[in-house]
Amino acid sequence: MIEIEDFHEDILGKAMRGLSIGKNEMSNLVGVEKSEIDSILSGKVNERLIRLMAIVLKLDPEKLVYSARKLWTPTPLKIGGVKQFNMPFGTMFVNAYITWDRNSGKAWIIDTGSDAKQLLDFIDENNLEIDAIFLTHTHSDHIGCLNNLKKKLNNPPVHVHYLEPLTDCNLIREGFRYSCESLSLSVLHTYGHSVGGVTFSITGLECPIAFVGDAIFAGSMGGGWSLTKMHYALTGKKSCLCQTKLFFALDMVR
Ligand SMILES: [Fe+2]
Repeated sequence: MIEIEDFHEDILGKAMRGLSIGKNEMSNLVGVEKSEIDSILSGKVNERLIRLMAIVLKLDPEKLVYSARKLWTPTPLKIGGVKQFNMPFGTMFVNAYITWDRNSGKAWIIDTGSDAKQLLDFIDENNLEIDAIFLTHTHSDHIGCLNNLKKKLNNPPVHVHYLEPLTDCNLIREGFRYSCESLSLSVLHTYGHSVGGVTFSITGLECPIAFVGDAIFAGSMGGGWSLTKMHYALTGKKSCLCQTKLFFALDMVR
């Protein structure tokens, strides 16, 4: 079981940043000392204050309190042809994934995480052949061992959004499509957490799946430079992701 990293203090902090509401302004809006806002944002649980802050931020007060009580975890999910790798990165953990066609063993890596060995061992043990690497975005925790992987895997093509170009990568944009054996992939530009953040929507397994990177966490959106832009980017894709199982970069599968 992978622990959730998206606590009530993270959700509140991200919402305040996205709406450009500072701690002083928040303390005025809810009528408490700034130190009380500080303590909530450091993880303290004061349900009355959490509800007040949620109302200011247009969040669901009861869901936020539920998050603060740490009563919810996503249901673990197992889908044939998808493997999650949870890797340490500094004080946090990041997920990388491999998905593959179960007849041919041809596979894609979705983000690299920080530890090439975990991925290479799994590839060897399962006789997989890496057809391509896809990057949801280029924050360092998502591409930490990219160069090492490329070297060990004979330079498979690497796909990344054109707004976050890397050397020797194929630059892609929304609507890009790619297939390998039974797997088909299409790209949604789910920017906001990062300028070239994308979601890879994949069919060909037992159900439609999507790798969202840091665009969505288990409890909220990923932190971004503009909540408005991000909300727009994500809500615009809702119909594309209907009935799709989402795989997150920093939390569990839902
Ligand atoms: Fe990120």
